[in-house]
Amino acid sequence: MSAVIAVEDLAVRFSTDHGEVEAVDGASFDVRPGEILGLVGESGSGKSVTAMALLQLIRKPGRIVRGEIVFDGRDLCRLSEEELASIRGAKIAMVFQTPRTALNPLITVGEQVARLYALHGGLSSAVSRRRAVDMLRLVGIPEPERRSRQYPHQFSGGMCQRVMIAMALASAPRLLIADEPTTGLDVSTAARILDLLRDLGRDTGASILLITHDLGVVAATCQRVAVMHAGQMVEIAPVRALFARPAHPYTRALVRSIPRADREVTMEPIPGAVPSLLEPPPGCRYVGRCPWVEDRCRREKPSLSEHAADHLVACFAVEDRRAAV
Ligand SMILES: Nc1ncnc2c1ncn2[C@@H]1O[C@H](COP(=O)(O)OP(=O)(O)OP(=O)(O)O)[C@@H](O)[C@H]1O
Ligand SMILES: [Mg+2]
Repeated sequence: MSAVIAVEDLAVRFSTDHGEVEAVDGASFDVRPGEILGLVGESGSGKSVTAMALLQLIRKPGRIVRGEIVFDGRDLCRLSEEELASIRGAKIAMVFQTPRTALNPLITVGEQVARLYALHGGLSSAVSRRRAVDMLRLVGIPEPERRSRQYPHQFSGGMCQRVMIAMALASAPRLLIADEPTTGLDVSTAARILDLLRDLGRDTGASILLITHDLGVVAATCQRVAVMHAGQMVEIAPVRALFARPAHPYTRALVRSIPRADREVTMEPIPGAVPSLLEPPPGCRYVGRCPWVEDRCRREKPSLSEHAADHLVACFAVEDRRAAV
């Protein structure tokens, strides 16, 4: 089955007073029909920049310097603003980290959702309003009829996030990008939002790119996961394989750092810090933290290659070890 979106060798840079920041350096991945793909990595690894690049929302001083983003058979990097406007929010929708600021405080919640139905579906205002209430019900807002007449400040953070998801789904997108959709929510609300995303993915057929720095969220929600480190994609695998057999040394460190309720182990910090993205060295960006570093890693950049079935890893040492067995 062909991918809903296929990203190939994506690179994004920002020009700053200190030099060029290479925020994303040759990332490749795809999102398949109906799946939830997790995109994980420490803070600053380039997850949000990748999401913004997918929507062609990188603004100055940033720019996409390389790569292809194929959606519906077309490279989004080559489309006009007008063509993009018909895709953004319609075929590819996004849910941000800060739901409340993305809502208009002066318009009732129901009206905000209804306007999207009117816009994308060309529906009359009465029909749009009914659809909006239906969608609010679908995302689990109690008493949607009454709540639709209220304003965003009358909604809790978790409820605002549900409204944002309702708005994102109003256009029946093929791809929903959710960037840290549960940040700032308490644990049980966060769990309910993730359940909701999973159910909606199943019910609406939308594929979801779920960005998070929390591997626990990935384990509970995603089918596959892509791991980013300092702007490079280091491993992509089905969730189970990634947890059972993480291959890249960075992923191994990440998986080891997850606190486990079933054993008395304190969380292991990952040694070293994310390297500076200002004019970084040409090879692998994990060299400064890697227990397996070889000379070659400093000079050459390993590309993602097949490690096991449906399991890609970008690491010379992993390749060498596999060749040795
Ligand atoms: N406008 C900008 N100008 C300069 N550098 C930027 C800009 N936007 C992002 N960056 C840099 O790009 C890199 C990746 O940032 P990004 O926001 O994608 O990280 P992230 O993985 O989403 O982190 P987090 O988990 O904290 O959200 C960072 O080093 C950041 O400083
Ligand atoms: Mg981010």
